[in-house]
Amino acid sequence: MTSSLALVPLAAAGSAAAAEAPAHGGKERTLRQLAADDRLRVGTAVDMSALADDTDYRRITGEQFSTVTPENVMKWEVIEPQRGVYDYAAADQLVAFAARHGQKVRGHTLVWHSQLPSWLTTGDFTAQELRQILHRHITDTVRHFKGRIWQWDVVNEAFNDDGTLRDSIWLRKLGPGYIADAFRWAHEADPHAKLFYNDYNIEWSGPKSDAVLDLAGRLKAEGVPIDGVGFQGHLGIQYGLPGGLPENFARFEKLGLDTAVTEADVRMVLPADDEKLATQAEGYRLLLDACLRTRHCISFTVWGFTDRYSWVPGVFEGEGAANLLDEDYGVKPAFRAVQKALSGHARTKSATR
Ligand code: G3I
Repeated sequence: MTSSLALVPLAAAGSAAAAEAPAHGGKERTLRQLAADDRLRVGTAVDMSALADDTDYRRITGEQFSTVTPENVMKWEVIEPQRGVYDYAAADQLVAFAARHGQKVRGHTLVWHSQLPSWLTTGDFTAQELRQILHRHITDTVRHFKGRIWQWDVVNEAFNDDGTLRDSIWLRKLGPGYIADAFRWAHEADPHAKLFYNDYNIEWSGPKSDAVLDLAGRLKAEGVPIDGVGFQGHLGIQYGLPGGLPENFARFEKLGLDTAVTEADVRMVLPADDEKLATQAEGYRLLLDACLRTRHCISFTVWGFTDRYSWVPGVFEGEGAANLLDEDYGVKPAFRAVQKALSGHARTKSATR
């Protein structure tokens, strides 16, 4: 029997898993309450259509999480669909929702190769024009949300898996210096926001995480205002789970950087079964445990919390079931694993900022 966050108050759920969960004043404590004990924010990416249309989704987003990330609505194609025509409406709605629910916002994302407006990708701009366009985009966007964004993903996914810089409109036309420029421009626009480099597959040791470490070290040495590195945490159980995560996170912390898990989900080849769901739970536990063991890991964010709205099936055919709750908001072993890890008080107050 599974309990459902939508239909059954967790404390009333009769499953063995629910019985193991900590009770608090007769009511099960939420993830955000448990994370607060660890001085960690626990977050989710938010699908704005679901937030508008689905009351269970809205309630769980507000109750369980202390930070939110717009899944799509702060991306350039949404914010400036036509050149000079801005649309911050959906992003503003999420920022307002967060304020009402005492949540902090991760801004996602300023510089990326994907989800760019077509006027930008098809325009035949000179390097100088493109540099001005990027400067204006970063400045206008960061200023618009000034004081309301906790962490910005300033540059997203700039590396290939082999550790070389990704071929993108930015690298091709502006050269590798676009990365440092982006951080400088974002800092000028909001000096109090924490500025992150964000990428996937850097949970694994290897050329990509080494390259990001090298970049972060060089940026710090040059006085570029980078505050942290985000480990997206998109895992698939068919590929195995990364080992040595706490040690990997610690390498970044040694540079004086914060870290964060920014987009955790753990997919599988469908159909799901008990064994796969148990491995998935272990994947979530590993990511969260690495964060809890790292002194300056400041947030643990899942990329959506329910299989109902996941991006995975649309991109990886035959795969899915990647989230903490199933399509009916039923509690999966992964949710219990996260709850349990947060209840373990893995880090003491003295081990955190
Ligand atoms: O908005 C249009 C809508 O007008 C249209 O009718 C519909 C038809 O398919 O598409 C809608 O756009 C989709 C958009 O999500 C909003 O729902 C795009 O097709 C779809 O490609 C897009 O996917 C997003 C993906 O980024 C794009 O790269 C996913 O939702 C989002 O979860 C995913 O998030 C990324 C992070 O930003 C960066 N890290 C990896 C992560 C997963 O890919």
